[in-house]
Amino acid sequence: MANEIGIEFDNVVAGYKDFMILNNLSFKAKRGAITLLLGPNGAGKSTVLKTLFGVLKVRQGKIKLEGEDITGTDSRGLLAKGVAFVPQGRNLFGQLSVFQNLELGGITLGMKTTHERIPEVLERFPRVKERLHSQASALSGGEQKQLEIGRALLLRPRVLLIDEPSIGLSPLIVLDVFKLLRKLADQGTTVLMVEQNVKSALKFSDEAIALESGHQRMHKRADELLSDPNLEHLFLGSAAAAPKAA
Ligand SMILES: Nc1ncnc2c1ncn2[C@@H]1O[C@H](COP(=O)(O)OP(=O)(O)OP(=O)(O)O)[C@@H](O)[C@H]1O
Ligand SMILES: [Mg+2]
Repeated sequence: MANEIGIEFDNVVAGYKDFMILNNLSFKAKRGAITLLLGPNGAGKSTVLKTLFGVLKVRQGKIKLEGEDITGTDSRGLLAKGVAFVPQGRNLFGQLSVFQNLELGGITLGMKTTHERIPEVLERFPRVKERLHSQASALSGGEQKQLEIGRALLLRPRVLLIDEPSIGLSPLIVLDVFKLLRKLADQGTTVLMVEQNVKSALKFSDEAIALESGHQRMHKRADELLSDPNLEHLFLGSAAAAPKAA
């Protein structure tokens, strides 16, 4: 039977230079599910994704992908294993066209496969399709984010890491992005998402993990958390909000 666990962090220590941010972090994210990473600013959410994608070095512990130890694999190796990363902020080649950005996204696939797959990606993003030959920087913020996600989908990823996709997007576009992630997960992709738009993201997620100072503070089912009266206290951290009386 297929491994139930998509991603596992086992006592991972990682950080920047001599400053460790993840301190023996352990968690499991289910395969084919959306797991939401929550926590206050600076909790280490983006650091988790960067460590998983091989941008930061694992100093101790192990990371597993569907049971396989991938500790120390670099980003290129991870792309080849089907791990795609859409980082926080803008990550396009603004001077290049939409089409050229997609071509670059498929660089590990080879040009033939990339060109075969571009139409299937464009089908998901009609606005991006209409702007195929525009300069990427001329797209609206929402269209640019869609292009970034599309570029990641070219890889038909087994695992999609996505950091704060809603930033700068209008509510309707955010909803489209969440629906798309839901569809991908239902088709078997493991999605690990960081998102500040917590209530809305939880509605589309399966599980939620809250981080605090590089530790797992909570792991719950998304529906359980949504109905929790202390939701805000839980995801904003103790300093940000006092718990409500039961
Ligand atoms: N490039 C870097 N060099 C040094 N320290 C960094 C670097 N990037 C992040 N940090 C530190 O690591 C800690 C965790 O940062 P991280 O970006 O993972 O937080 P986050 O949970 O994603 O926060 P946010 O919600 O603000 O995006 C912070 O204290 C931050 O200052
Ligand atoms: Mg972050």
